[in-house]
Amino acid sequence: MLPSLRTAFALLSLLQLISSRPVTPPPQQILKEIILLIQQLHSGGQVPCNDTRVAQVAFTDRQLPEQELLCQAEMALAKVTKCKKSYEPLITNLKSLHGKKDCLLSDDNEIYLRHFLPALGNFTQGLYRLQGAPAAQ
Ligand SMILES: *[C@@H]1O[C@H](CO)[C@@H](O)[C@H](O)[C@H]1NC(C)=O
Ligand SMILES: *[C@@H]1O[C@H](CO)[C@@H](O)[C@H](O)[C@H]1NC(C)=O
Repeated sequence: MLPSLRTAFALLSLLQLISSRPVTPPPQQILKEIILLIQQLHSGGQVPCNDTRVAQVAFTDRQLPEQELLCQAEMALAKVTKCKKSYEPLITNLKSLHGKKDCLLSDDNEIYLRHFLPALGNFTQGLYRLQGAPAAQ
């Protein structure tokens, strides 16, 4: 009886230890991961599906909240069907960073992926440098 009780308590405290950990890494770490992923996508010279056109995101528009822009970037990339595998890790990280359910993205203006990715890279590096990692909502 006693030993099994002790085992139960040990298990319980182990479970508490696990559940008290944050489920997602801090935003700063996710940003770093995104920056690395974008660098990796560029490592082969041209980015995968370089000629695919995606909706343009107004990364330099300071009127829009960062969360919104990150969400729009995720939406734009999610529409790249041909190189889905290559962009999946990036999309997943963007999703966990902005934490929004949805956002508005107009596809009136489209740009090539080879221009989109450097813009996203610049934007995320700017956020990283500012230490202004947006808090997940
Ligand atoms: C896009 O990538 C393909 C394959 O790497 C290459 O043949 C093509 O020239 C690239 N297009 C541009 C505009 O760089
Ligand atoms: C890079 O981002 C900064 C803000 O973080 C912006 O002012 C600048 O215009 C951007 N450059 C390019 C080439 O997008």
